[in-house]
Amino acid sequence: MAVLRVCKYGEKILRKKTRPVNFAAEKEKLRPIIQDMFETMAAANGVGLSANQVGLDLRLSVILIPSEEGPGVKLTLINPEIVSAEGRQEGGEGCLSFPGLYAPVRRALKVKVRALNERGLPVEVTGTGLLARALQHEIDHLDGVLFVDRLPLLARLKLKPELARLKKQWAKLV
Ligand code: CO
Repeated sequence: MAVLRVCKYGEKILRKKTRPVNFAAEKEKLRPIIQDMFETMAAANGVGLSANQVGLDLRLSVILIPSEEGPGVKLTLINPEIVSAEGRQEGGEGCLSFPGLYAPVRRALKVKVRALNERGLPVEVTGTGLLARALQHEIDHLDGVLFVDRLPLLARLKLKPELARLKKQWAKLV
């Protein structure tokens, strides 16, 4: 197992729509990648991480949302797609590819996602609140979309100079 380097804003792979995984052909390769992604996410205190954030062109995300009452939600999502979305939530959002940056992003309150799990079996996940937010954030990553793209126009314009400044700092991070 290993902690992988997380790509930062400005790196081209974050803008790439990822390639669907062929589970049958790639399952042996996937197992260590998934383990490393969970380890990388935990090391960075994230709740979600997508494969292109660690430089891999694969339609694959992991999510881990801790809970004080129970074991929390741990998901491996291979080739995930949102099949329905409803409602609306406002809330602060961050991203491991934008260290230190938080911004309010409007998301659907509830989403239903279809994917394959780590064993290649079809699963349907319905999430609300933080889980719904994480599902939308990660599936956006897999389509090359970043959370700053989801800000209202005015907020995006206001953030532009700061983002340009931060981009230079992040480029120096390993
Ligand atoms: Co992110």
